[in-house]
Amino acid sequence: MKRILSGIKPTGAPHLGNYFGMMKSAIEWQHQGEAFYFIADYHALTTVHEPKALREHTRAVALDFLACGLDSEKAVLFRQSDVPEHTELAWLLSCHTPMPMLENCHAFKDHLAKNKTPNHGLFAYPVLMAADILLYDSNIVPVGRDQKQHVEVTRDIAAAMNHAYGAGLFVIPEPSIIQQVATVIGLDGQKMSKSYNNTIGLFEDEKPLRKKIMSIVTDSTPVESPKATTTSSIVALYRLVASETDVAKMEADFRTGGTGYGDFKKRLFEALWEFFRPMRQRRVELAADPGTVDAIVKSAGERARAVAVRTMERVRSAVGLR
Ligand code: ADP
Ligand code: TRP
Repeated sequence: MKRILSGIKPTGAPHLGNYFGMMKSAIEWQHQGEAFYFIADYHALTTVHEPKALREHTRAVALDFLACGLDSEKAVLFRQSDVPEHTELAWLLSCHTPMPMLENCHAFKDHLAKNKTPNHGLFAYPVLMAADILLYDSNIVPVGRDQKQHVEVTRDIAAAMNHAYGAGLFVIPEPSIIQQVATVIGLDGQKMSKSYNNTIGLFEDEKPLRKKIMSIVTDSTPVESPKATTTSSIVALYRLVASETDVAKMEADFRTGGTGYGDFKKRLFEALWEFFRPMRQRRVELAADPGTVDAIVKSAGERARAVAVRTMERVRSAVGLR
């Protein structure tokens, strides 16, 4: 049976990029193997230095994932820090990770490009991610395109370890990326990301959500003129949540002209609101019972840890620590 694993950082409430890039396919994968999904709170610490916020975001990620259809009987949804073996394995992998490989990773390069000083955690982050994946002998890693590089780093580190200590030590994982939605665009036309402040949350209240949609940046083509569908963030987002017929209708209206961006944004809002309606309902039910969500995550942590402990015994012995 295939082992599937993915993680999401509790750096804020999950957004459309997280859902269509990763959560949706992770939820589909839960039926096709043994799925382990975790809330990457150790990773979030590279940027979130506010304890209260970290706790709140961690719970929001668990709630959203369950509301969107994650089945806690099928998939193991746990908190990374409930399994401290992640950090131990990260150290062992660090000792086989060339610095230039990490210097080439995009989160680190972005920081430098923006003249920010990365902390060591951010620099070493792909190694912790490799540990997350290798600890569970994962075969498949469903992620958005921005994480492909990190899965490649994981494969390189696993290969180096297998070369040093024996071919069977680690399973070499494969990323799984949904090509049609590889990158979801945010309100400003850049990649949607919590770090760019351009996100559309999955479960925002109606009024602020409507306001956000109305604030999507557009060009200044007049109402009566035809508009480009290929470069429009409105069309790109609409494709994710509307039916094929409705998308075809919007595209036709773009090409004909005579409809303003304001109208298109209203259609987008309606489609989004409808798409997430059943999940929103489920989220309200779950949120009314936070004890149950906490219990699901806690018991999943125990299941995950049992696997991690076994892997670490094997790895400690392979490297000569035992
Ligand atoms: P963020 O960039 O907002 O901090 P995360 O790094 O926590 O999001 O991403 C969690 C998952 O969601 C990853 O698999 C990532 O690839 C995916 N993801 C995040 N943003 C997008 C996006 N705009 N388009 C597609 N996938 C995304
Ligand atoms: N780095 C991922 C992100 O920023 C989150 C993550 C951490 C992850 N560890 C992982 C994803 C392991 C897949 C597998 O989105």
